[in-house]
Amino acid sequence: MSEQKKPVFDWALLNRIVRLATPYRTVFYGSLLLSAVLAALSIARPLLVIYTVDTYIARRPFQAEGLRNMALLMAVLLFAEAALRYGFNYLTAWLGQSIVKDLRTATFNHLIHAKLAYYDRTPIGTSTTRTITDIEAINDIFSEGLISIVADLLTIAAVLGAMFYTNWKVALASVAVLPVLLWVTRWFQRGVKRAFQDERTEIGRMNAFLQERITGMRIIQIFHAEEQERKKFDAINQSLLQANLRSIWYYSLFFPAVEICLAVAIGLMVWMASHEILRGSPSSTQIVTLGDVGIISGFLLMINMLFRPLRIIADKVNIIQRGLVASERVFRLLDSPLRPKDNGRLSPDRLQGHIAFRDVWFSYGRDEWVIKNLSFSINAGETLAIVGPTGSGKTTVISLLGRFYEVQRGNILIDGTDIRHYKMAALRRRMAVVLQDVFLFDGSIHDNITLRNPSITRREVIHAASLIGAHEFIIKLPGGYDYRVMERGATLSVGQRQLISFVRALVHQPDILILDEATSSIDSESEAIIQQATEKLVEGRTSVVIAHRLSTIRHAHKILVLQRGELAEFGTHEELYRANGPYRRLYDMQFARSHYTT
Ligand SMILES: Nc1ncnc2c1ncn2[C@@H]1O[C@H](COP(=O)(O)OP(=O)(O)OP(=O)(O)O)[C@@H](O)[C@H]1O
Ligand SMILES: [Mg+2]
Repeated sequence: MSEQKKPVFDWALLNRIVRLATPYRTVFYGSLLLSAVLAALSIARPLLVIYTVDTYIARRPFQAEGLRNMALLMAVLLFAEAALRYGFNYLTAWLGQSIVKDLRTATFNHLIHAKLAYYDRTPIGTSTTRTITDIEAINDIFSEGLISIVADLLTIAAVLGAMFYTNWKVALASVAVLPVLLWVTRWFQRGVKRAFQDERTEIGRMNAFLQERITGMRIIQIFHAEEQERKKFDAINQSLLQANLRSIWYYSLFFPAVEICLAVAIGLMVWMASHEILRGSPSSTQIVTLGDVGIISGFLLMINMLFRPLRIIADKVNIIQRGLVASERVFRLLDSPLRPKDNGRLSPDRLQGHIAFRDVWFSYGRDEWVIKNLSFSINAGETLAIVGPTGSGKTTVISLLGRFYEVQRGNILIDGTDIRHYKMAALRRRMAVVLQDVFLFDGSIHDNITLRNPSITRREVIHAASLIGAHEFIIKLPGGYDYRVMERGATLSVGQRQLISFVRALVHQPDILILDEATSSIDSESEAIIQQATEKLVEGRTSVVIAHRLSTIRHAHKILVLQRGELAEFGTHEELYRANGPYRRLYDMQFARSHYTT
């Protein structure tokens, strides 16, 4: 990362972050105002102490009533300050959380509409880090950094003002150590920033490592790789420890250094104040006449009030810096145009289902074409089976049909209209895609089937499940349709997951069905169920099936044979079988054999 070379503060970035508060500007300005009031209130107390000591304690005769009144006033001020501080803390935290919530929504919105090409090149961890960890760091800018820094700066200014107003010589003595303190702070800030970056890198490494190992735990245990993985983890854990210790080291040096500065400041102040007292020459700017005892007690309070925010500001600058680094990454994601172009106007209620590819060329963005000059068409209501060796482009063809990627040359027509002229949502509403590997979300079976579309009733779900042949096993699960599928459906068998994905497709009543048949072989009984289910699914609607089962191919009206992205053959089973070309070879080798073994 080139963060080190950048200036301490990227003001344009900070400005953009502050603008995130625009919808909450009342709260934003309110908190700023509160911080000013708090600064003023906190400075009122030492001034009152000076006044009280001088007027009611150092004077004779002793004025008990006045003293009592002042004590009362101070108590009231103290409570007012506490109440205001509570309000201030709550408001800034609320502000930070609200902004973070908006950002999370914006980021998720951005991600959920992003083209699949983005996900092809971005690790999952990156997207989740952006939406959770990085955005949380931006929250800290508001709740712990920016606004309270204003309060601290105001407090410092107020304290300095009060000090110099009270007695400029004593004030000067008190702040004599400030240059040293500033230097120490700078040293601390630089060191801690570097340590902090290391820490984050190590945390990132550890997260990535853990995520991957936990997902792949089966493989680790099956291949007895526990020991190697444990050693690797130990190494990462050790570097994380080192990085953490380094930042702790800076903190543990910084705070005592500030304490020493504070002690020196107090010493200097007392020395100068007593000097003033001994000389007995009241300075002209004093607010009280016999100010000597009062000055010492007041200055003691004021010096503490000066050092506390100074110490905290150093830390807060770190928080803001961390937030800036994180926000840069979030903004970069939000600024990148990830949405596919969706300029189509057409939004038909139904599709007939006529499909045509015309001279289609497509590449995933690398050099070589994955689909080359592909042309074919099928009529409404027909089933097309796509066959071909692995990597020949079968899945790619159906991704193009669903407009998950854009073709570079040629066009794809549905009902005679280029698919780019349809609204994307309208097109996808009328299509259902069943993928090779079924993905189930954490949630009930019902929700996994309807995908939380409230217009699909339980009756429709049960009806579809009965047609597919999934109803029997679903009602045997604890809770039936409310059975909670755990992550990715690990508690269900592969065949059961497949059936659920079929029900999911059927219940959405698509005009065009796209099916990437699972290759995994299952027992013949389940095979028969899946077979029946597939027939139900393609019945009466245009279907494009990447077929691995002989029976699916035999039922198809047309067969498209792909080889290295090119059309090798196209026609009916009988035609192609008789032609004695690639299809025949594929058929004899693959399908005929699998037919006998199952
Ligand atoms: N998202 C992607 N990004 C880049 N290249 C890809 C992507 N998906 C597939 N490819 C490449 O495109 C080619 C065709 O892949 P495709 O998935 O369409 O093959 P397939 O015929 O479905 O194979 P299989 O029978 O194994 O499922 C392959 O060479 C593959 O490496
Ligand atoms: Mg495939």
